[in-house]
Amino acid sequence: MGLDEVRDDWTRLGSAEPLWAVCVDPDKRGGGWDDNEFLASGAAEIDGALRRLTELGIRPEGGRALDFGCGAGRLSNALAAHFETVVGVDISAPMLAEARRLDRSGGRIDFRLNDAPDLAAFDDGSFDLVYTDLVLQHLPPALAAGYLREFTRVVRPGGAMVIGVPEREKPTFKGLVFRYAPWPLIRIAQRVVLRYPAPMRMHVWPTRQLSAVLAAGGARIAASDDYWGGDHWRHLRHYVEVRGESR
Ligand SMILES: C[S@@+](CC[C@H](N)C(=O)[O-])C[C@H]1O[C@@H](n2cnc3c(N)ncnc32)[C@H](O)[C@@H]1O
Repeated sequence: MGLDEVRDDWTRLGSAEPLWAVCVDPDKRGGGWDDNEFLASGAAEIDGALRRLTELGIRPEGGRALDFGCGAGRLSNALAAHFETVVGVDISAPMLAEARRLDRSGGRIDFRLNDAPDLAAFDDGSFDLVYTDLVLQHLPPALAAGYLREFTRVVRPGGAMVIGVPEREKPTFKGLVFRYAPWPLIRIAQRVVLRYPAPMRMHVWPTRQLSAVLAAGGARIAASDDYWGGDHWRHLRHYVEVRGESR
């Protein structure tokens, strides 16, 4: 699976049902998400994550935040309440169209299409915070590792990152299917049985592996919280400190 396939799948998911594809909940299929409820879920997540960065003493103040894999702008809108400017990057044009429809920031979010395997569109050290959640798990691990290296480049020294990824599957039926079943079988089940508009891959990122990629870029996981993941994944939110000058 390469970047083209990722883009094609997420373009189809974004065209068919963007809010459900961002927050997959069987009860919300067929337009079940209310816009305000959807955005409120983003505000709750960001408020909690920023509080935790404050507790850890690594919260950058104001400035510019990157929301990588912004989807329909659920988290970008919430970040805009705390940062002067926010850049929301996504590979799916219809997702970005939905994000622009839901933009409540008064023009402080720059939603951008990026279908490159890197973040060459952004300068070194040009963000105070990089935030990503529910994105890297859907990418082939080598591609995700490339973006992680790019995050360490685009965050300024002394800035921070928040990275949400599943660490491992839980021993439930679905968790075990994802761990052991061959991908072509899962793909067919998602399309035929679950009627997904396009398949959604899942990859886990053991913390030691994530930590090694970040360390090579001068970043260190300061804390990891188990905050969500439903019944099938242990999903962690990692708070990452980027080495450099004091804030
Ligand atoms: C499950 S959604 C999560 C959206 C958002 N982070 C949130 O939590 O509300 C995953 C998003 O990642 C985007 N995505 C997938 N691969 C990407 C890539 N290589 N670069 C940028 N965005 C990507 C998808 O298009 C989709 O909008």
